[in-house]
Amino acid sequence: MKNNPIGVFDSGVGGLSIWKEIISLLPNENTIYLADSKNAPYGQKSKHEIIALSKKNTEFLLNKGAKIIVVACNTATTNAIDYLRKNYNVPFIGIEPAIKPAALQSKTNKIGILATKGTLNSQLFTDKVLRFGNTEIVEQIGEGLVPLIEAGQLESKELDLLLQKYLDNLLQKNIDHLVLGCSHYPFLVPKIKIIIGNKIKIIDSGEAVARQTKHILQKNDLLNLRKTTPNHLLYSNKNVSLLKNFIPDLPNITLKEKDF
Ligand code: DGL
Repeated sequence: MKNNPIGVFDSGVGGLSIWKEIISLLPNENTIYLADSKNAPYGQKSKHEIIALSKKNTEFLLNKGAKIIVVACNTATTNAIDYLRKNYNVPFIGIEPAIKPAALQSKTNKIGILATKGTLNSQLFTDKVLRFGNTEIVEQIGEGLVPLIEAGQLESKELDLLLQKYLDNLLQKNIDHLVLGCSHYPFLVPKIKIIIGNKIKIIDSGEAVARQTKHILQKNDLLNLRKTTPNHLLYSNKNVSLLKNFIPDLPNITLKEKDF
């Protein structure tokens, strides 16, 4: 079991921002990544639909022998992880917007969060926000950003305009931290920095998720101790070559396009 892969899924390429942190922190581990790009974006879907898609992705990864599953999608975590934990017998690691570190560090007591509608409207997120009574959390839905990233249009004018509009809304509120609540958004950090400058700190959860994955593998005696080069199998159900724009060029990565 220890040599089995870590399974990771997202609605598309976004979770690769988490997967990168995982392979860097856990260099012995084999991984399987699932980009459900055919069904992206998840952010506008109902809880019921998000659970059904998360089930499908989980079962695909379990059939490939995943020993642990990382839900590298805030929208799927906040809507479906309770269901997954109740129904499957492997450890699940989720990703949630990093509200807590941002709130603790904030001097203005105002933090911004950019996330999908599905995440911001979820019960799990709402419960979390209520715990930070003294800090105002300014929410902004990033509608339209994920489809542009999924279409490989990171350099498009359309994306720049949307990002400018959303960040302007947050800048007006005197925030001093910006939480990236969607795993696609770390790929926009260079653009975000140009717009918000360096007075506002950007917080994302990628490293924390990798650390938690390591911790849970250790706790369950599932760490791969072999020193051989691991294999990384990356699946997409739509235009797998798009993944190349978001990953390092390594010989031990295999890309596969498959309908799932
Ligand atoms: N990358 C995902 C997230 O972290 C989902 C984005 C989407 O498909 O709308 O929320």
